[in-house]
Amino acid sequence: MSIEISNRLASIPFSSIREIFEEANAMEKRGMKITHMEIGRPDFDTPIHIKEAANEALQKGHVHYTSNNGIQELREAIADKLKRDNNIMVDPNKEIVVSVGCKEAIVNTILAYINPGDEVLIPDPAWLEYQYIVELAGGVGVSIPLREEEGFNLNPEDVRMRITSRTKMLILNSPHNPTGAVLPEENLKELAEIAIQHNLLVLSDEIYEKLIYGEAKHVSIATLPGMFERTVTINGFSKAYAMDGWRLGYVAGPTALIQPIMKVHQYNTTSATSFAQYGAVAAYAGTQEPVREMVKEFDRRRQLLVSRLSELENVSCVVPQGAFYVFPSFKGTGMTSKELATLLLREAQIACVPGSAFGQCGEGYVRMAYSTEYEDINEAMDRLANVLKNLKVKG
Ligand SMILES: Cc1ncc(COP(=O)(O)O)c(C=O)c1O
Repeated sequence: MSIEISNRLASIPFSSIREIFEEANAMEKRGMKITHMEIGRPDFDTPIHIKEAANEALQKGHVHYTSNNGIQELREAIADKLKRDNNIMVDPNKEIVVSVGCKEAIVNTILAYINPGDEVLIPDPAWLEYQYIVELAGGVGVSIPLREEEGFNLNPEDVRMRITSRTKMLILNSPHNPTGAVLPEENLKELAEIAIQHNLLVLSDEIYEKLIYGEAKHVSIATLPGMFERTVTINGFSKAYAMDGWRLGYVAGPTALIQPIMKVHQYNTTSATSFAQYGAVAAYAGTQEPVREMVKEFDRRRQLLVSRLSELENVSCVVPQGAFYVFPSFKGTGMTSKELATLLLREAQIACVPGSAFGQCGEGYVRMAYSTEYEDINEAMDRLANVLKNLKVKG
């Protein structure tokens, strides 16, 4: 007997990040040491005051369903944070839904607004989940190329050219996974004009907001004139507070946009985990020193990785300004990104993600996460340089 899967799932593959991950794990089981640069999460522990707050909540018996949109204390802490850091004013009672990770907020938003056949503009390369979540909803993802020579910044003209009568939503992710690009305010202003002119809903995924370096500045598109009413801002705790396993995120925006998202959330997960939410209150209301320390260390690794990559022949690299990824091009080697990622894993014991896993425009690149120790990165780069040197000798 065979039971068919739904049509909406038929064209959707498992994540190709998994393949590299599984091969790396198998190599480790055989006793090899692998430098993990494929994983998109901080290698730090959750700060202690956050863990203590969640522990205390457990001890106090906060073990039941919470209000669907999240505990009042957390919604208030989120509203304060959005006002303080982003200049976004929202009512904690009607304009925030706490979700099981950012990912749930993204799924809920897309399910709430995308009809079969609706087109959603998605940068390419990007976190591939956007494309598949849109497909799950019956929508059509339209890829907008990001170019290395433009610093991987979304070019508003590329967006304008792809708008049709079916275009409903624009997805933005700044700082960006996988390139680390931070969208400059000038680009955001032009994108805002386009969104207003064509009545688009903007989903702004700001999960990497706190991981930003040098002169780069994070601007929330919801704060630009005329944008609040058409923007849902999505953020969470996974990256900045090393809380990816806690599965906590949120969506914020005007009541009219948030309430339909709330409806999907109600039928999806009811509420995020109760005691985890108390930990998140401490994350936002407590000291930000651990975040500053983590960002400082990421910046040190970022500079190391960029400088080591820039020594290599046939490799080019845009200096990332945010997140914890570098997205170097290996086009000069003539290899596909999958061939290269496989070679790096097998010959240099470096696990990284082929750029093609993030869309067609990622071909020729690999994503290297610097969420691994400084010394490990340095040694991994020695091995990488050797592999490329041998490749040249053979070629
Ligand atoms: C761009 C982007 N958005 C969202 C997420 C998911 O975040 P969360 O752990 O809050 O679901 C990730 C995780 O890698 C990401 O890279």
